Amino acid sequence: MRDHRRRVYDSVLGLLCDEENPTPLVRLNRVVPFEHAQVYAKLEWYNPFGSVKDRIASNMIVDAEVREILDAEQKLVEPTSGNTGMGLVMISNARGYSLTTPLSSAIPLEKRTMLRFFGADVIELEDTLCPAPGAPEGAIAKANELAEAPGFHMLNQYRNEANPEAHYKTTGPEIWLQTDGEVTHFVAGLGTCGTITGTGRFLKEKNPAIKVHGVHPQEGHDIPGVRSIRQLQQTELFRPDEYDELVEVANQRAFDLCLRLNREESIIAGPSSAMALAGAFDLVPDEPGVLAVVMFPDNAFKYASSVVRHLPQLGSTAALSQRERMMDALVENARDTPGLTIEVGPAHELIETSNPVVVDVREPDEYTNVRIPGGVLMPLQEMSDYVDLLPDDRETPILVVCGSGVRSLSGALFLGSLGYRNVRSINGGTTAWAEQGFEVARG
Ligand SMILES: Cc1ncc(COP(=O)(O)O)c(C=O)c1O
Repeated sequence: MRDHRRRVYDSVLGLLCDEENPTPLVRLNRVVPFEHAQVYAKLEWYNPFGSVKDRIASNMIVDAEVREILDAEQKLVEPTSGNTGMGLVMISNARGYSLTTPLSSAIPLEKRTMLRFFGADVIELEDTLCPAPGAPEGAIAKANELAEAPGFHMLNQYRNEANPEAHYKTTGPEIWLQTDGEVTHFVAGLGTCGTITGTGRFLKEKNPAIKVHGVHPQEGHDIPGVRSIRQLQQTELFRPDEYDELVEVANQRAFDLCLRLNREESIIAGPSSAMALAGAFDLVPDEPGVLAVVMFPDNAFKYASSVVRHLPQLGSTAALSQRERMMDALVENARDTPGLTIEVGPAHELIETSNPVVVDVREPDEYTNVRIPGGVLMPLQEMSDYVDLLPDDRETPILVVCGSGVRSLSGALFLGSLGYRNVRSINGGTTAWAEQGFEVARG
């Protein structure tokens, strides 16, 4: 039984969303900088397991069953940034499968814990937030390795056409129905790109004039679930020729708008929802008759540890995990390690005389804004991705810099852990450097 009017179901799977049971479409009023254009958010946490990914988890499993490449004996394995894992493990519980999820230890603790709580066999690995394409020890490599073993099957959300198909069959028809075919713009954040590709195809078939826009974060971001342009290489579902425009949204802007959505619109949206909305503000024209629908993939409840990092006014030390506190103590104590730090004056001299490698561990927008000339950008969150930029000779003098000398300490420790023996963190960072009147580069 699946009775949407009385909300009675004989299985939780009956709550999976489609045209008969669409996720809500809610108009935004207070944060929208438009006079004419209407903007609606599609609230995907109304899916039974809390995110947009429930749609693809269900469709990928059903598709594999129909094509008889999945049977009850098999174990599912899937590298995930969290939400797909949650959808897959809950549907697996209901349909008698088990799930193994190799994932990055950078994923918010809340998500890793809930995946275990739901019953997934979670394998934590050193990897970037969104599993990195080439990371040999990363989540994707581990999943590929496991998928080779007998009894395992990988549905692979990054190349499985049943991913966009889920949105072609459900999200697209829902939006068309809910807007009486009046929708003019569809905007979504880019992760695997299943949402934008599937929904976009359906809506353009209905009305080729509908604009389909993609929003991505900047390099070095920490918005779970979405991918920077470099990270999008990894997904085979990224089809920019099917979209009208792409736009990049800065990390902090996404977290700031996320706060406003929760406080001013009373919508419990997560960071990637706010990122997509910020992109919509940049791409959707403020004209009469414009009706834009923006995908809100999940809510804020899983991101306490992320928002605390970007909205320090919310934080309390208690929120920091044991591991984070240990890391902070490690970095703090390292500050007094003889030879690990250097003041800007001697650093400037060293650069003038012996041309050391200068590694800048800040975010790209900070680096673009002002930097030490010749510095190499290696955002702290993704240093492991950039190690091939470093010289092989472990004796090479390296100076690590950030804005004030905090992140550069972690960067110096990281390079030390790779065996580099002549690494120093510049105290005071680019701020002190500029204050000394030393030459800087911009743009
Ligand atoms: C929180 C969040 N936002 C956005 C997305 C992007 O959706 P898609 O993979 O369909 O592009 C994901 C995908 O995992 C997600 O988990």
